[in-house]
Amino acid sequence: MALQFAATTALVTGASSGLGAEFARALAARGADLVLVARRVDRLEALARDLEARHGITARIVGADLADPASWARVRAFTEAEGVRVSTLVNNAGFATHGVLAEADPDRTDEEVRLNVGALTALTRLYLPDLVSEGSGALVNVASTAGFQPVPLMAVYGATKAYVRSFTAAVAWETRDTGLRVTALCPGATRTEFFDVVGSDDAKVGRYQSPEQVVRTALRALDGRRTPPVVVSGAANRVGAALGRLAPTRLGLPLTAALMRR
Ligand SMILES: NC(=O)c1ccc[n+]([C@@H]2O[C@H](COP(=O)([O-])OP(=O)(O)OC[C@H]3O[C@@H](n4cnc5c(N)ncnc54)[C@H](OP(=O)(O)O)[C@@H]3O)[C@@H](O)[C@H]2O)c1
Repeated sequence: MALQFAATTALVTGASSGLGAEFARALAARGADLVLVARRVDRLEALARDLEARHGITARIVGADLADPASWARVRAFTEAEGVRVSTLVNNAGFATHGVLAEADPDRTDEEVRLNVGALTALTRLYLPDLVSEGSGALVNVASTAGFQPVPLMAVYGATKAYVRSFTAAVAWETRDTGLRVTALCPGATRTEFFDVVGSDDAKVGRYQSPEQVVRTALRALDGRRTPPVVVSGAANRVGAALGRLAPTRLGLPLTAALMRR
């Protein structure tokens, strides 16, 4: 049976575009009230008002730069001040850099780690007691197929997503008897603003999925009797992820490097 979200609240980070906006739409369609977080508040505002009108839910917005560690406690303080109890958390905000590390902008790679790893870890930790005590919702941490093997030319990004996969699977085990459903969602190339931010299509491997396909995969995983701790979206991506996990590193590195350099 489909997981019900009516009369519960879901907090979605990176809700101003792409997968996060699609999570917001899908959760609102299932009746969830929303807390939408990102930097571009004009976009959050437009999405929130649209979803309220369509689905009769309440959508709150928080403008926050989640690469700034001070923002993590501020998001939590906002939901507390509003008297909102979060029972579903979607840690989706993230971005990638592309190129050899020795030439990368160190501020940008630091920001990548603070957002993809720092914010995701802090928000999971800050909300986990509530998620567990509600015991009826979900924790979805957005990883990537890039997290299944080292990724030359995207060394930082691949490593951040390997962290998300490992961290989330461990939390899934720790919370297995609580009713909370926990999964690390691993999309492959998805048609969002992601590659505009990367600034290169070289990082794209395989055929694009739509955000709708990826979010449908996530919700299907949550609806099942046993939510898998890690879910890869798309059959071809599942094969790629399995190969990435199994291939000896010495063989995998030149192959992955070739895919990143096209
Ligand atoms: N698209 C793909 O091919 C793909 C594949 C695998 C995994 N993923 C993962 O999917 C997740 C969503 O990405 P997407 O594809 O939907 O890309 P996107 O369209 O670029 O969306 C990224 C979202 O993250 C938010 N964000 C970025 N920096 C932020 C910051 N400092 N503080 C707060 N929010 C921030 C953006 O909002 P603002 O700019 O308004 O802050 C935006 O809402 C990411 O974790 C990404 O790594 C994407």
